[in-house]
Amino acid sequence: MQLLDGKKTSQDIQLELADLVKAKVAKGGKSPHLAAVLVGEDGASLTYVNAKVKACERVGFKSSLIKLSQSISEEELLEEIEALNNNSDIDGFIVQLPLPKHIDETKITLAVDPTKDVDGFHPQNVGRMALGLPTFLPATPNGVIELLKRYKIQTEGKNCVVVGRSNIVGSPMSILMSRKGNPGNATVTLVHSRTKNMSEITKEADILIVALGIPEFINADMVKEGAVVIDVGIHRVEDATAKRGFRLKGDVKFEEVSSKCSFITPVPGGVGPMTIASLLMNTYQSVND
Ligand code: GUN
Repeated sequence: MQLLDGKKTSQDIQLELADLVKAKVAKGGKSPHLAAVLVGEDGASLTYVNAKVKACERVGFKSSLIKLSQSISEEELLEEIEALNNNSDIDGFIVQLPLPKHIDETKITLAVDPTKDVDGFHPQNVGRMALGLPTFLPATPNGVIELLKRYKIQTEGKNCVVVGRSNIVGSPMSILMSRKGNPGNATVTLVHSRTKNMSEITKEADILIVALGIPEFINADMVKEGAVVIDVGIHRVEDATAKRGFRLKGDVKFEEVSSKCSFITPVPGGVGPMTIASLLMNTYQSVND
């Protein structure tokens, strides 16, 4: 078994981007500016957003963190988004999800200018992705694609099973793995919470991509010998013996599955850092100059 080291790969990409920005700025170009909007005090979301902002600083991008109260109204949040849409210094921005229950996420997603939508969540960008047109690809699925590419994992003609059908990960992941290209050209099956005999299907996967959102859901019996396993899940599981009171776990039982597969992403240090690298790549592309 070989680890797919997302942390190292993300660092490599960040070094490449830092060089690109340096060269661009030396020629009088603009350094990319990412804004991140965080609503409320959710600890995990704060960690992710801070990681994104710090990564911007590392590669020489500008970044702005906009922290808003949990009790902000939908209308006020829409006004913040409009201001970012109209701010010519901001090249791209994200609104960290999930949002408080009183705010309609679809409405917010639709309000983001598609040319600044570096998360690739706007329907216009989702549609362009589905048609294979140039666009901002959603950060997590594209991070997985980049990891497969850099480890030269063959995907053409392989059985790829995607577990989970979320708008952010499962659904776009299935599109990217099946589309023409490398990585791509896989035979993709998407399974979800209503799938019957899920383990019969996952056991046929040469490449198993798990984004179901249930800690340690996938066990060794559900995985084919020699499979490539990508674990998108990340959960804080309470553990009184851990320093912070919790441990990070994925959607895959790492210990037992890792002894059976050919490649696997660890949690943490697998897909998470690749999401950040992918967001930075999109932000680099978002500059219009
Ligand atoms: N919440 C979980 N993943 C993501 C992501 O990639 N982008 C945003 N904006 N929110 C998220």
